[in-house]
Amino acid sequence: MNCKVGEHAGFCFGANRAVESLEDALKENKPIYTFGPILNNDILVESYRKRGVTVVEDVEEFDKLEKGKIIIRSHGVGRDIYEHLLATGFEIFDATCPFVKRIHRIVEKQSQLGDKIVVVGNPNHPEVMGIVGWADGDAYVVEKEEDIDKLNFEKSNKITLVSQTTFNRNKFQELVEIFEKRSYNIDVMNTICDATRVRQEEADALSKEADVMIVIGDKKSSNSRKLYDICKANCDQTFFIQTLEDIKGRLNVVSNLVGITAGASTPKYIIEEVQKYVRNDF
Ligand code: F3S
Repeated sequence: MNCKVGEHAGFCFGANRAVESLEDALKENKPIYTFGPILNNDILVESYRKRGVTVVEDVEEFDKLEKGKIIIRSHGVGRDIYEHLLATGFEIFDATCPFVKRIHRIVEKQSQLGDKIVVVGNPNHPEVMGIVGWADGDAYVVEKEEDIDKLNFEKSNKITLVSQTTFNRNKFQELVEIFEKRSYNIDVMNTICDATRVRQEEADALSKEADVMIVIGDKKSSNSRKLYDICKANCDQTFFIQTLEDIKGRLNVVSNLVGITAGASTPKYIIEEVQKYVRNDF
């Protein structure tokens, strides 16, 4: 069957870098740990667990573990955790995405200069928790208009406003406009990463062209779910799968073109397996 895979399907630059650093670490003969799951993909995490990688969720746990190498994932961590990790005496590879690292530097510097820090994003997302953790003093997370209502800044306060890298650009702009309407003294740093937008635009175009779409991603991954919604709106025959097994036997339609896209945490080998199946075996 004729099929087309989105050029930007799957890992973004930061995810790719984190996984490559883990692959490199596995070549060394020492215990390997990731601080939190390397990516939001159970299959990938499980495959690394089988290869000896241990996921550690709490810094205190390292006290009881054999010395080895810790990989900090692309979401990054706050300063306290970073310093705690350094103090373990373990070898550290910091795979924080450089785009996230840039936000850490902005937040650290501007908070030291006395600015109020506002992070636009989901307060429970590890990237946002990490960003907040680089502020000297408090940082405030805003996800919707009501969160702005709760801020009691003086109009004279200078506010540095940054965003979670994957936050929706339009929603970000709406929130910035609310700050402006309320005459807050804000300095807006646009720290949204384009990887998500580019992947979504590509999926949108591909799903208009294809008569069957396959979206590959972890069910828990919100960016994969979003890709599914975009594709489903254009193409009724859209399948949301995690692995090749999920699509076998379900493609019982005649199609001119099957489009394939994948969320940011979907490993390349799964995309290739699905592509090969659609092209050759189906
Ligand atoms: Fe980095 Fe953007 Fe991916 S910030 S981790 S390249 S989504």
